Amino acid sequence: MRRLKTLERVLSKAGLGSRAQARSWIGQGRVRVNGRLIQTPDHWVELERDRVTLDGKPICASEPVYLLLYKPKGYLTTRKDPQGRPTVYDLLRGEHPWLVPVGRLDLDTSGLLLLTNDTQFAERLTNPDYQIPKTYLVKTATRLTDEQLQDLRRGVTLKDGPTRPAVVQRLRDSGHRTFFEICITEGRNRQVRRMVEAVGSRVLKLVRTAIGPVAIGDLGMGRFRELTAAETRALCPTRNRRGPSRATGLSRFCR
Ligand code: URA
Repeated sequence: MRRLKTLERVLSKAGLGSRAQARSWIGQGRVRVNGRLIQTPDHWVELERDRVTLDGKPICASEPVYLLLYKPKGYLTTRKDPQGRPTVYDLLRGEHPWLVPVGRLDLDTSGLLLLTNDTQFAERLTNPDYQIPKTYLVKTATRLTDEQLQDLRRGVTLKDGPTRPAVVQRLRDSGHRTFFEICITEGRNRQVRRMVEAVGSRVLKLVRTAIGPVAIGDLGMGRFRELTAAETRALCPTRNRRGPSRATGLSRFCR
């Protein structure tokens, strides 16, 4: 498969600077592709084949960084918000400004968010073809029947098409609420919320607890840590990174 990216994106994803900075370097004539001066930020680059240089030096992605962040509710998964709301970058305390989130969590969703500067890793995790499971804890506004949970398992039809079968497990009921765990292999926009609406209820609380075998464990809300080498490999077997091997803690239960 050919992996094409714009020149501006290749430079920013290499961890060298923001997209605005990349555009300005390109405009200033500091960037060449296969020896040819390119001054259009939208120029297509094939990652495996093309040689990109900045001021004559080949750009190679900086040391890959893989972070696991426990995103609290109320934080946006974007770099900046025109309305000034807090973003996940505020939680990184300026330490990793060039990392990009691997997929998104809604403003009202909390839980496991990965951030990296490794584009291949991010693409693999967000590409639905790889069917990487994502696990969520859900609290609903009504008590769900077995039939409703069964419909979620089989898959429901959303406006962007039917969902794949999901693994669903009732955890407990409390008054008019149901707590359940759902594991899906897609990552469509607001998918879990829309699935629950499709069976006639509403999500009150949504927490992502795991991506593949990597769980949020006992990490504090708003805190982040590096993935261990074993976790990185488990998510993306082509990554053979050395690093600390640290066991993840037990899964947190919804309250
Ligand atoms: N599904 C949702 O509805 N929201 C999220 O943030 C993630 C999955």
